Amino acid sequence: MNVKTWLKHNKDVKKADIVLATVLKHDPSWLVVHEDFAIDTEDQAKADAAIKNLKNGMPMGYVMGATEFYGNLIRLNRDVLIPRPETELVVDLALEATKKIDSRFPKILDIGTGSGCIAISLAKQLPKARVYATDISPEALDLAIFNANFNHASVRFLPPTDLMSDFNPNRGYDVVVANLPYVNREWDWLDKNLDYEPEIALFAEDDGLELIKELIDQIAERKIDKYLVLEADPCQHQKIIKYAKEKTLKHLKTNGFGLLFVTTERHV
Ligand SMILES: C[S@@+](CC[C@H](N)C(=O)[O-])C[C@H]1O[C@@H](n2cnc3c(N)ncnc32)[C@H](O)[C@@H]1O
Repeated sequence: MNVKTWLKHNKDVKKADIVLATVLKHDPSWLVVHEDFAIDTEDQAKADAAIKNLKNGMPMGYVMGATEFYGNLIRLNRDVLIPRPETELVVDLALEATKKIDSRFPKILDIGTGSGCIAISLAKQLPKARVYATDISPEALDLAIFNANFNHASVRFLPPTDLMSDFNPNRGYDVVVANLPYVNREWDWLDKNLDYEPEIALFAEDDGLELIKELIDQIAERKIDKYLVLEADPCQHQKIIKYAKEKTLKHLKTNGFGLLFVTTERHV
């Protein structure tokens, strides 16, 4: 079958061109000028299987096993959340916080790194920074390590751990960034496609705020880390800002889903 016939056959499937182009290792624009290219049976079988998964509702990131995030190609499997575009603004906030740090080698920690997308993006943008990353899931960490190597990003991975509970209380970070699970199971606008993603990466108790509050508690208690960058749904922001204030963390800025806090006035 050639490209033109295959595309015609799948004309009702959104993003079918991206599927075929990825299987053939070209850009979708390549297909336009190579309509007569004969797809070999192995590639056609791969593209057909991907289309079947897409039709069944599997998100594109898992169908193709990769996505782009902050200009980096991030490999994906079902152990990790598919990085979202809104998380790129969280990276921007972490970069902004890092600029305030008076050190040539700022120390940044990404908690709940998942695919590694945040840590990798920061390490690529800030070659002099010491970027650390961890996650509670060993499987996610394995993929994050693969992605860091694949993208030639210098990220120091720490053993799997529950937030900062195992961290040395004397070793502080200039910027802690965390996109933790914050989805409230009760939200009635939840996308069905979320069924494909790991529960541990999505849901949290206490209206989705349990882990975020726990991390704020830990940072407030440690008194050694400088900036905290969090991601949460905008409908949760006011509650988080209020909670953080009670724990003496000052809200500095909101950027889309991202929130930036400073732990003490000294660093503003
Ligand atoms: C929303 S995903 C974010 C993944 C990635 N950072 C991103 O932005 O796409 C949340 C991540 O937090 C991890 N996680 C869940 N509970 C955790 C905990 N108690 N301590 C550390 N990481 C946790 C999950 O395994 C998951 O990888």
